[in-house]
Amino acid sequence: MRNMTEEELTQLVLDGYSNTDNPRLREILLSLIKHLHEFVRDVQLTEPEWIEGIKYITAAGQISDDKRQEVILFSDLLGISSLVNMISAKVPEGATESTVIGPFFLENAPERAWGESVAKREIGDPMIIRGKVTGMNGEPVPNARIDVWQTDANGMYDVQDSNAPEHNLRGYYRTNERGEYLIKTVRPTSYPIPVDGPAGDLVRAAKRHPWRPAHVHAMITADKYQTLITHIFDGEDQYLDSDVVFAVKESLIHDFRMNESEADAKSFGVNAPFLDLEQNFILPKQRVAA
Ligand code: BEZ
Ligand code: FE
Repeated sequence: MRNMTEEELTQLVLDGYSNTDNPRLREILLSLIKHLHEFVRDVQLTEPEWIEGIKYITAAGQISDDKRQEVILFSDLLGISSLVNMISAKVPEGATESTVIGPFFLENAPERAWGESVAKREIGDPMIIRGKVTGMNGEPVPNARIDVWQTDANGMYDVQDSNAPEHNLRGYYRTNERGEYLIKTVRPTSYPIPVDGPAGDLVRAAKRHPWRPAHVHAMITADKYQTLITHIFDGEDQYLDSDVVFAVKESLIHDFRMNESEADAKSFGVNAPFLDLEQNFILPKQRVAA
């Protein structure tokens, strides 16, 4: 114990956590310790470098609050969020694919009525997103909750923009008894992730660009169905192949079609022309615990 080798130290630390009661927590802790020690050995980390690392992690905590989530940003920028999503949010073929949640979701978004727009100032091209929420057998899912949040033409979420009306471009809709929904909004734009904190230092150090391709976030929750957290990407965006947070999936890329029909515009309560996107969300049933 007193004259340890590096390997003996690692083993001693592992032993120190091997009585963790919760088996899953034990598995995660022991693997984390093993890999962290391996990482330190691999790069032969120096004490000044580790102090820099600690300062960096501390800065991420200090800049975070209820509106700013720097740690999620780190997870996104390092591809951890996408990897966890790939591993743990697998859906059967035919179901709508999910992707990362990002740092801008808010729990307390307001409900939006049928026909109401989430855009509380009209910057950008009017757009509707319409379709159905169904199960895997095509059965309609009534009363599903569809949370949406996005940027408008100024590239900022409401929580980043002190001039934005409260909850601008954010809210949730409910499906009707046929599982149908109608979202009114404006075309989202590509935007840079926040780079005024430690996450920005990481992007600059790696000479990466900070942009995400334009998208609308959607989270669909319904009784007895698996929750879906996804994006609707604009198929014309220039950053689809270089998303700074590695979260684009082919099936989530859509054609934002211009609809010039006055009759369609009237039926949706918008002015023609408008961008018209039809998108069904297909949800698997919740897994029943064994
Ligand atoms: C977003 O899409 O809101 C987002 C995701 C990851 C990092 C930053 C922003
Ligand atoms: Fe986003």
